[in-house]
Formats: sequence, C-alpha cells, structure tokens
Amino acid sequence: MTRIVITGATGAIGQALAAVYARPGNQLILHGRQRDVLERLADTCRHTGAEVELSQAELGDDDALFAWLDSLCTPTVPDIVIINAGMNINIGENGSGEPWEDASRLLEINLRVPMAMGNYLGKRMRAAGHGQLVLMSSLAAYHGLPVTPSYSASKAGVKAYGEALRGWLAPYGVGVSVVMPGYVSSKMCHEMPGPKPFLWQPERAAKVIARGIERNRARISFPFPLNFGCWWLAVLPAAISQRLLTLFGYDHDHGGGAHR
Ligand SMILES: NC(=O)c1ccc[n+]([C@@H]2O[C@H](COP(=O)([O-])OP(=O)(O)OC[C@H]3O[C@@H](n4cnc5c(N)ncnc54)[C@H](OP(=O)(O)O)[C@@H]3O)[C@@H](O)[C@H]2O)c1
Repeated sequence: MTRIVITGATGAIGQALAAVYARPGNQLILHGRQRDVLERLADTCRHTGAEVELSQAELGDDDALFAWLDSLCTPTVPDIVIINAGMNINIGENGSGEPWEDASRLLEINLRVPMAMGNYLGKRMRAAGHGQLVLMSSLAAYHGLPVTPSYSASKAGVKAYGEALRGWLAPYGVGVSVVMPGYVSSKMCHEMPGPKPFLWQPERAAKVIARGIERNRARISFPFPLNFGCWWLAVLPAAISQRLLTLFGYDHDHGGGAHR
C-alpha cells in the first residue's frame, strides 16, 4: 500500500492531485479545513479504488501539527507527502499595500508550515531510509511580482528550503521535489490581479506534478514557455528583469487594475 498525504486537498490543485492518485493500492490521507468538501472528495476517491483517511489538524499550531505528523509516521513514514496548502494576497485595488496581518498569516501557511513539515518529516524519513517530500512553490519564486510581494517571498523561501532539503536527504534515499506552477485555474489564482498567460486547468497540472514526483524530479516547473521566461528573470540583471515585468504588465499599477 502506497501512502500519500496531501495538504490543501480541498483546493483546486489538491483535489486534482487526489484524483490522480485515487486508485487501488493507494491510501490517501487528505488534509483540509472544509469538512464537506473533504467528504465529497473522499467518496470520489474511494469510488475509484483508493483507501482514504481525512485530517483537519490545525497546521498553524505546532503541537497539533507535530502530533498529526507523528501519527502519520506510525507504523512507518508515508511514501509521498505533498505540502500543498497555501494562500495568496495582493497589494490591493490602488496598490495601497498588503495588510500586515494578512501577510503574517500568509507567511505561516506558505512558508513556516512547509518548513515545519519538512523539518519533522525530513528527519523521520531520513531515519527510515525512504519517503518523498513535495513542496509547492511557484514561478513567482524566480523573481518577486510587484502585485504580490509576500507571496513571492514565501514561494522563494519554499524553493530554497526544498532545494536544500533535497541535498541533505538524497544520500539517505529520501526524495524531495519542488513544484513551480505558473497559472492554474483556482480560487486563489482568479483572486490574483494581473495577466494570467498560459493558464492551465488543475487536472493537467496534477498529471504533470504526479509524473515529476514519480521520477523524483528536483524541480517540477510548468508551463513552457512561462517557466523558461521566469527562469530568465532570475538570471538577468535585476534592473532588466524589473523592466521586463513592467513591459509584460506586472508592475504595481496593475494591483487590481484600478487605473485601466
Ligand atoms: N493556482 C495557481 O495558479 C498556483 C500557482 C503557483 C502555485 N500555486 C500553489 O499551489 C497550492 C494550491 O493552490 P490552489 O491553486 O489549489 O489554490 P486553492 O484552490 O485556493 O487552494 C488552496 C488550498 O490551501 C488551503 N489553505 C489555505 N490556507 C490554509 C490554512 N491556513 N490552513 C490550512 N489550509 C489552508 C485551502 O484550504 P481551504 O479550502 O480550507 O481554504 C485550500 O485547500 C498553493 O500552495 C499555491 O500557492 C498555485
């Protein structure tokens, strides 16, 4: 039995990932805050042959989080843990700036929780000599987007953390993949201001992510050519990248499109 944990399973990408893994021989542990959505998802996944468990552990509470992670490692560590839960905020209608309380909440779920999970599960997987951690970053990690500073920072942090974990854990038979999606249709994506070129449906994204996980790819980034373009933003001199972002409509004036 392959045990797969997915956080943020109530979201668009989380639900699509659950559907990809919902087959006989797999046990899914689906984490989410919306019980009704989770229950419906569990029914669908059981229908296609998976065993399903649900969790609503409070990820932002260290005691609750570590107790849940400890239970996941009994009797042995999960095979795949996809740390997917996340949120986005932006600088608002007139680019007035992100409310700090929102930025603080974002940093907790987007960065602190993935680090806490990576820290705890990394040690347990290292000791067990197997397992795979999957961290959900974003193409926004390559170069900060003026409309979403905190989100960009959190995803850059997740990318760096995942890359570092991979190097640490590879000699012990533990895989780590960092996922860097472009625009994938979801609540979060549609609430974000600015252009959304090469928008993918979550089902397509989930298939590509699962294929990358199967191959233990260090970086699972898509779609081409957006991933290639964003990679260049990280490589070029920062002044040029800033000008390119303005040229392509990602400057701060687009925070909500108030001036157009
Ligand atoms: N969609 C994109 O274009 C895109 C691009 C790059 C990266 N990503 C990343 O992909 C991941 C999934 O996003 P999505 O597009 O599927 O968005 P989504 O549909 O809005 O789903 C977000 C998920 O995260 C969960 N979540 C948010 N805050 C939480 C908290 N404080 N505690 C527990 N769970 C929380 C949500 O749970 P509730 O249902 O309870 O709110 C939901 O399951 C995120 O990490 C996101 O940053 C998305």
